[in-house]
Amino acid sequence: MSKATESLLNGGYIAVANPANQVYPSPSLRRFRKALKAVVFISVVLCLAGVVVWHVLRPKPIEVYVSSATLTQFALTETNNLNYNLSLSLLFRNPNSKGHIKYKWMHASSYYHGESLGWIPIHSFERGCQSMVPVNTVFAGTKNMSIRGSQLEEIHREGFFDVDVKVYAWLKYKIKFFKTKHRMAKIKCELEGMVLEGKRTSENGGFEGTRCEVHM
Ligand SMILES: *[C@@H]1O[C@H](CO)[C@@H](O)[C@H](O)[C@H]1NC(C)=O
Ligand SMILES: *[C@@H]1O[C@H](CO)[C@@H](O)[C@H](O)[C@H]1NC(C)=O
Repeated sequence: MSKATESLLNGGYIAVANPANQVYPSPSLRRFRKALKAVVFISVVLCLAGVVVWHVLRPKPIEVYVSSATLTQFALTETNNLNYNLSLSLLFRNPNSKGHIKYKWMHASSYYHGESLGWIPIHSFERGCQSMVPVNTVFAGTKNMSIRGSQLEEIHREGFFDVDVKVYAWLKYKIKFFKTKHRMAKIKCELEGMVLEGKRTSENGGFEGTRCEVHM
């Protein structure tokens, strides 16, 4: 039973709202509400526009490849020193259709079984959209290895060497009038199954290039 019927049955009456008694908001309150609505609306529109612009302009991470790698020396002496000479051709690609990337500084290091074979600086450069920048580097020298000789010899007998190359690049994006802050790109390239240059045959093939992992 509804409240109205109940009150009718009880001999009561239904109260009808008298429009004259209704309280209207004052003009200033109405203006304030209108302004508040406008502010909320504009904020929402600006936020949406920001999200869209961010998605359109957001720079994609760089792409890095090792297009070729040559191992001309990789030999262990009796005193556990590794003489190595690894030359690499790296390719840096900007996948963004708009904007430039400015590399402030970069350096590359190479690792064999987790042991560093030194690091080398790479000259900085600035490149536009979609461009490929080839960078040639050579890791050459002597490293006294801490992994034991017999372990190394075992690896050597196979004749294939896995070398990791890590590149750290400090870079920023420039898109029209926007510039991002400098950010660090950590790049890891796994060179698997490298074969000494003189020992490369059509069967063992050796290394044929790879795409590197990029973390930004
Ligand atoms: C390299 O290290 C080994 C010990 O791991 C040592 O016997 C040898 O003398 C070292 N060689 C050089 C050139 O320092
Ligand atoms: C390393 O090998 C390259 C050829 O691939 C050669 O041009 C370079 O001089 C070598 N560097 C050293 C330090 O042996």
